[in-house]
Amino acid sequence: MSKSNLSVILGIETSCDETAVALVNSEKEILGHLLYTQIEQTSFGGVVPEIASRAHLSHLPKLMESLFLQSGFAYDDLDGIAATCGPGLIGGVLIGALFGKSMANVLNIPFYAINHLEAHALTVRLVEDVSFPFLLLLVSGGHSQLLWVKGVGDYSLLGSTLDDAAGEAFDKVGKLLGLSYPAGPCLEALARLGNPHRFPLPSPLKGRRGCDLSFSGLKTATRLVIESLGSQITSEDKKDIAASFQKSLCDSLVDRTQNAIRLCLEHTPTFPLVISGGVGANQTLKGAFTRLAHTYGLSLHVPPPALCTDNGAMVAWAGQEKLKDNAADMLDFEPRPRWPLSC
Ligand code: KG4
Ligand code: ZN
Repeated sequence: MSKSNLSVILGIETSCDETAVALVNSEKEILGHLLYTQIEQTSFGGVVPEIASRAHLSHLPKLMESLFLQSGFAYDDLDGIAATCGPGLIGGVLIGALFGKSMANVLNIPFYAINHLEAHALTVRLVEDVSFPFLLLLVSGGHSQLLWVKGVGDYSLLGSTLDDAAGEAFDKVGKLLGLSYPAGPCLEALARLGNPHRFPLPSPLKGRRGCDLSFSGLKTATRLVIESLGSQITSEDKKDIAASFQKSLCDSLVDRTQNAIRLCLEHTPTFPLVISGGVGANQTLKGAFTRLAHTYGLSLHVPPPALCTDNGAMVAWAGQEKLKDNAADMLDFEPRPRWPLSC
């Protein structure tokens, strides 16, 4: 592959149960991407950190080799290496970070330590021309936040979850319904067949001031409905429970984001509204936010589902954003299990 004047960055993602690598250039082209989902975790109903670390260690070298073979690129074509350095399960993060740093050292190219949340936040700019500032709802398996995004590395936290993350609520309710982990996509498919009005479940914090989020009350109320049906629960009941749960969760997210929109409109006349993170793959949520954005005359931007859930391209793209800012990191950057985007 001949060198062009476009920069190419390798992205490495290992912060949870997805081992992912990708090559992305400065023209927003995904030149190659591979992802291994640790299906061995499904039998445990969640992610077991020790098993996840071992799986990253065994799959990352093979994925890397295949990525270069399949894309036709060589290590010499790289202009930088970006690896998730937190937040996440520290065993996996250490493996990806060390791998990336070693490659950057051997190839003598810049290393970009990527905040996983920032990678989710910036993904939308890989697929669309969304400029700063924008209002972001970041909803994943580990985090749920509303952020005012002013630029790369420049975030104001408007609200965050007081208890569970949105994806975690999907996974826990899905487990109670007998769905395999991660339950979000299966629960969404089940909900499509159900009646969202049959079970009146609470939409946490709806109507309350502020932009914080909460999901544990909804999760408990859903659990009580499931327990009340006991062994008599039918597949129709499960579809209706899934639909009612999803509707209440989306209603709550719309309500909390509406408060954030009003807050932001006080200082900025218009701005893009963005959803990112695994739960952003949910099409019912996207539908509800399309109506919300329309009400306030805002444009809505959501990456395609495969880029909402964890992937290597979002990490490579975050590296491209940092490269533009000339913001490479030192090789002694220490991976962090916790790494808030903003205080
Ligand atoms: O961003 P992500 O891949 O990993 C983290 O950073 O946590 O998000 C994974 C979460 C899981 O909880 C999964 O159940 C949820 O996103 N998820 C969904 C959907 N697809 C993935 N939740 C609802 N609807 C979906 N279609
Ligand atoms: Zn994620």
